[in-house]
Amino acid sequence: MRIEPKVSGLGATIHDIDLSKPLSAENYKAIEQALGQYGVVSFPNQELTAKQLRDYAENFGKLEINVANMYHDEQYPEVMILSNIKENGQPIGLSDAGQDWHTDMSYSKTIAFSNVLYGIKIPFRDGESLGNTAFCNMHAAYEDLPEGLKVELDGMTVTHDFNKFWEMMRRKEGSSRPPLTEEQRKRKPPVSHPIFLTHPITGRKVLYANPGYSMRVNELPEARSNEVLQFLFEHQTQEKYRYRHPWAEGDVLMWDNMGTIHNAVADYSPDERRLIKRCQVMADKYFPELY
Ligand code: SIN
Repeated sequence: MRIEPKVSGLGATIHDIDLSKPLSAENYKAIEQALGQYGVVSFPNQELTAKQLRDYAENFGKLEINVANMYHDEQYPEVMILSNIKENGQPIGLSDAGQDWHTDMSYSKTIAFSNVLYGIKIPFRDGESLGNTAFCNMHAAYEDLPEGLKVELDGMTVTHDFNKFWEMMRRKEGSSRPPLTEEQRKRKPPVSHPIFLTHPITGRKVLYANPGYSMRVNELPEARSNEVLQFLFEHQTQEKYRYRHPWAEGDVLMWDNMGTIHNAVADYSPDERRLIKRCQVMADKYFPELY
């Protein structure tokens, strides 16, 4: 296995490994370290069944069965389907383009470690791949914060709410998402997490807040909380922290949800077909007390 880092500091390509085969302890350790260090890793030219994708992802932690995503593999509900494709007028997957910046599962008491995506159909136009997944580096965003703000916010917590993101996606043109049911909302009530997390792989601090789900800095008066969150959202999404993964069919893309935030770029039309299978890996290996 060979790891080739991108120049941006975020992102690496991992060559010469077949993810359909059992993962050795040595390769597991190297991939885990690469995820901490580079935030996003891609494995080109993979050929995986739903079961093989699930088995690979499961090496890294418990897999989440999403509360609101009714689109998943028939046999393996941990394998979710993200797609804009319709068959007989019906969507075959959850359409997630134009999400805006967020961190998956920050709305959950038990936060996520990694997303593992497998690209099956990728739209291309004029030779360029569309529907890139974009990332921002939360290690760098934390490090660059003004010292005064680091001190002010140290030890504080942020409320995250699943419904904030869901409602934002529902407002998008053409969305087929129904409102969350009472039952779904009960299963995902708002939760609080430290605003600065010590990253379990790198041992460095990261900024753990995101425009998608973060609602309130709990320890601040409302007006100051709004001002701080507005500043953090602008700060953390600056161009200098970004990396975009240009998808190719057969890519497996994995990222660290603690050290990055992400956004699925919505630059393709409904007839430019995109199909991705995804597993969501929880951070239970790092925070067993929460699981
Ligand atoms: C995700 O947020 O897990 C999906 C990102 C994408 O579809 O590019």
